[in-house]
Amino acid sequence: MEKNPVIVEFEALPQNQGFARAVAGAYCAAFDPTVEELTEIKTAVSEAVSNSVIHGYEKKGRGKIRMELSMIDRDKLSVKITDWGKGIADVKKAMEPLFSTEESGEMSGMGFTVMESFTDKIFVESAPEKGTAVTLIKYLDTYYDV
Ligand SMILES: Nc1ncnc2c1ncn2[C@@H]1O[C@H](COP(=O)(O)OP(=O)(O)OP(=O)(O)O)[C@@H](O)[C@H]1O
Ligand SMILES: [Mg+2]
Repeated sequence: MEKNPVIVEFEALPQNQGFARAVAGAYCAAFDPTVEELTEIKTAVSEAVSNSVIHGYEKKGRGKIRMELSMIDRDKLSVKITDWGKGIADVKKAMEPLFSTEESGEMSGMGFTVMESFTDKIFVESAPEKGTAVTLIKYLDTYYDV
């Protein structure tokens, strides 16, 4: 069962990556996470938001990103990050380690790999020119008290 849903919507600006990170951290404070859990959640969220800013909206700074946080069954955190940007033509390929469409060589193509290794489940829905939604599920050691 889904509990305590929180929805935050913000502009696709690079500085909002830090904002999203902080919101995810603040949301998690209620279930007394370990330092490790907290770092993993915040980092996975940062990667998803950075992808929406850089790839989804191609760094244009225009467009909305929605972050939906909730708890499932008292011990699983769910964070869904949605953009209405460019979308991904081949999700399977995009999720391969070291795959990047950025040709500058600045990006390592490890964002999805980081998200996968720091969470327990990841769902990616995307369609070209429609946008992308990434759902991150993290099983927690502690119970969320409600
Ligand atoms: N929200 C998104 N909108 C459009 N394309 C995306 C989105 N997220 C990911 N992609 C595509 O998937 C590819 C792989 O993403 P991933 O985060 O793994 O690597 P990267 O962003 O290229 O590099 P890194 O995250 O290591 O800096 C990206 O290069 C991009 O083409
Ligand atoms: Mg990335």
